[in-house]
Amino acid sequence: MAGDLSLRVWRGDASGGELVEYLVPVQKGEVVLDAVLRLQATQAGDLAVRWNCKAGKCGSCSAEINGRPKLMCMARLSALPYGRVTVTPLRTFPIIRDLVCDVSWNYDRDRRVACFAPPPDLAPGEYRMFREDVGRSQEFRKCIECWLCQDVCHVIRDHEENKPSYAGPRFFIRHAELAMHPLDTGDRLRELREEDGLGLCNVTKCCTEVCPAGIKITDNAIIAMKERIADRCHDPLVRLVRAWRHR
Ligand code: SF4
Ligand code: F3S
Ligand code: FES
Repeated sequence: MAGDLSLRVWRGDASGGELVEYLVPVQKGEVVLDAVLRLQATQAGDLAVRWNCKAGKCGSCSAEINGRPKLMCMARLSALPYGRVTVTPLRTFPIIRDLVCDVSWNYDRDRRVACFAPPPDLAPGEYRMFREDVGRSQEFRKCIECWLCQDVCHVIRDHEENKPSYAGPRFFIRHAELAMHPLDTGDRLRELREEDGLGLCNVTKCCTEVCPAGIKITDNAIIAMKERIADRCHDPLVRLVRAWRHR
């Protein structure tokens, strides 16, 4: 696709804004970020946009393209409906300016996830990791912290009031990564249930659909953790053993 693209970009700040339409020349093989940066270089020098690697690795250029959360640097123009593209900032987080929003809520949630906690009496070299142990959580380490899954999850996208009690899919996989580590002694299930609101997730799988790292967030992390919680809380045998221990 080469020619002029009708590019509609949300312009504004916390006090309000609107979609502004520009005509931007584009070349074959380009992505949305190319068009946005050309717009910034030639017609809208004050356009605020966040980006870094241009290779789908840093997670900075997240936005909503035609209403769908995506990385701008990975969104090929040829894969979008011809001639007109709309770019808006992530809807779930407060606007700073134009396409840049304040994602610090995610970093606050991150700090609330308890650190990896190996047994205190384990000396260096006393434990060898097996291939399966490493492989189990490897997928979750591919996260680039783009916050697209957090943006799309309706639990906070449509309900601001849930933010204090909900960690979101990115941190469900962080908990799963730690819970699946054979040496971690942290009580991840309690945190997930009581502090991070895993119960509010109703498994819509939207987070998995938008993840640019291809992490199977719902199947491999969320459902796995929900099953562990169900086992702990509702398995009659586990409850019997727990009751017996607390006699
Ligand atoms: Fe982005 Fe995927 Fe990480 Fe969510 S899990 S922050 S969508 S890379
Ligand atoms: Fe939200 Fe993903 Fe659950 S989008 S509702 S965390 S499956
Ligand atoms: Fe780094 Fe898009 S610029 S992921």
